[in-house]
Amino acid sequence: MATVSYNSNAIFIDNKSEIIISGAVYYPRATPAMWPAILRESKNAGLNTIETYVFWNLHEHQRGHYDFTGRLDLPHFLDLCHQQKLHVILRIGPYICAETNFGGLPPWLLDVKGLVARTNNEPFKHHMLEWCKVLMAKVGDYQATRGGPIILAQLENEYNNVAARYGQEGQAYVQWCASLAPILGLTVPMIMCEGQAQGVISTLNGFIVAKSVARHRQHHPNQPVLWTENWPGWYDTFGYRHHTRDRREIAYNVMRFFAAGGTGVNYYMWFGGTNFAREAMYLQTTSYDFDAPLDEYGLPTGKSRHLGRLHQAILANKAFLVSGRDPKINVLVPPMEGQTLPQLAVYNFKHGNESLLFAINSQKIAADVTAGHKALHLEPQSAQLLKQAGDRTRVIFSSHEKPTRLISRNWKPLDLDLDWREFAEPLVRPKLPGVTLDCPVSMLPHTRDLTDYAFYNTELTSAVARTVTLTLPMVRDFSTVFLNAVRIGSQPARLLENNSGEQWKHTYRIPLRKGRNTLQILVSALGLIKGDWMIDAPMTEEKKGLIGHISIDGKPVRLAWQLSVGLMGEYLRCFQEFPGQLVPWCRLSPRTAAPLRWFRTTFGSLSADALGYAIHPGSLCKGMFYLNGHHLGRYWQLPALEQKEAGDENVLIPGSPVGEPAQCYYHLPKELLQKVNTLVVFEETTATPRGLHVHERTTA
Ligand code: GAL
Repeated sequence: MATVSYNSNAIFIDNKSEIIISGAVYYPRATPAMWPAILRESKNAGLNTIETYVFWNLHEHQRGHYDFTGRLDLPHFLDLCHQQKLHVILRIGPYICAETNFGGLPPWLLDVKGLVARTNNEPFKHHMLEWCKVLMAKVGDYQATRGGPIILAQLENEYNNVAARYGQEGQAYVQWCASLAPILGLTVPMIMCEGQAQGVISTLNGFIVAKSVARHRQHHPNQPVLWTENWPGWYDTFGYRHHTRDRREIAYNVMRFFAAGGTGVNYYMWFGGTNFAREAMYLQTTSYDFDAPLDEYGLPTGKSRHLGRLHQAILANKAFLVSGRDPKINVLVPPMEGQTLPQLAVYNFKHGNESLLFAINSQKIAADVTAGHKALHLEPQSAQLLKQAGDRTRVIFSSHEKPTRLISRNWKPLDLDLDWREFAEPLVRPKLPGVTLDCPVSMLPHTRDLTDYAFYNTELTSAVARTVTLTLPMVRDFSTVFLNAVRIGSQPARLLENNSGEQWKHTYRIPLRKGRNTLQILVSALGLIKGDWMIDAPMTEEKKGLIGHISIDGKPVRLAWQLSVGLMGEYLRCFQEFPGQLVPWCRLSPRTAAPLRWFRTTFGSLSADALGYAIHPGSLCKGMFYLNGHHLGRYWQLPALEQKEAGDENVLIPGSPVGEPAQCYYHLPKELLQKVNTLVVFEETTATPRGLHVHERTTA
């Protein structure tokens, strides 16, 4: 059993002060077979702590059915952390944001009458508490205070993002979250990031937080300064360029943070991984690589090696940073107007007869300085860490040092000679669950978020043959219109991440024939939003499907609708070896160009020694991949238009060119491979998988 406490300088574990060097690794975004190597590589890079969110949305996707198996085996993940002697920061949420479906909340909450999430709302608090109790029964014993690895626990997440919407009621809710500790048996200190309750450690998130440390200490004088989310890259969304962040700039900002008085950092993400199946939030790519120090395949990168050297240098000298004395700061160029940190300075942390020095140049020009007895040349926006003993001063880390060994990775296509079969998704689907509607409504209560797809079917009668304008008042997210079994078109061409309406109205010209016409609108969803701001309303107002009466030539028409849930291929489980074999698969015809097709192929065993495997979709456009019955995720090969803005810090660099999809390779986990492998694709457009290749990750 250990005690966990804190003062203004550090977290104390068993009365020993710690500098926290933590990395976010989210267990569902890797396969369990990947966990040991990821944790080992994390340890090798000097991490002493792993941070994970808990994914209520995945553990209880269907109400009352709890899943802690496979990728969701959190106790096993915690055991592995413990075995590696890594502490754990458990961010319970249960609202977690995290670019996961519905920000970590289970979608069935949408069916609970009167429920509004993340405010002082009894139904929400009731379900949140029920879940937290189930969770704590599983992981409560993993707290350090009971002999386990968990040293800190977070409830809620970045409440400031929604605080204005919920006002006093919101504050009452946050305070209620803090009061749950005794009810849940939480005996380690509680943290909250960017919006906190009284009595809880308040923490910082951001690309660069050094500038906020002094103010944070004034507001929270008895707390250590923890940086819960240091973003070493960013997430990607379909249709926008991939993001990257430079390892030198990250190291420089971590050094500025510790020099300014920080005592713990968590890289969000250290390992980003993959949003398997339908687990990604709206528009988020299947890859959650994040340009994280460990790549999507769990492999070390130049970034993890570089930061690893910084971590080792800091941890070997932690006594200087936790000793409780503020550094002596030699300010060589004072802060710019309106800023808090000097532009050029040497920070001297003394301990006994020795010193730890941070020489920091935040200017956009290089600078020559003397730190201790050492003359240094500092690159623009760079930092060096030095150790001084007697009259000897030596550099122990430089943010801009050149890598000793370059790690470069590549992809090599495998020559598998794939033979594809196809199965056309039928438009007439008598077997599928259906419901009659007087007016189109959100499909979520009917799909229960078990599928992205639903058909809204109706009939239109026309006295004469004529082409009319069909208006769908609200569609979330895509519509594909079929008139008399002929595809008319799909909308929209691309999506905005924060979408409060501009793209919901779809308009088509449709050629009605005289008499009865069948109108079918296939709606496909692309994940639930992660927070209120994405729809500018409480997130529990999230909807998918066709909503509201359609209009013909501007006039609303009331029709009888049949909502048919899911795809026939899903219903027949055509992606599984059995019963998938029973589906009438046909040879891929060289001539047909029909939308909505399932494709299936098999290939033999692949070497287990490879670093990793991925699918390159070739000319496929939008759909889903399955391997041996496992849903690997959604794909959408939309060429990127522009860089998406992420904060105002200007630290992200576009990592892929305009015109290239945000994601080109889709993780094929080694753990799911068999002697004979069945790969199934569902494609929404007329594209085929002829150009699809399986690639191997190589060191090159
Ligand atoms: C933070 C949030 C995380 C994640 C991150 C972006 O604001 O707390 O959960 O969404 O942004 O990657």
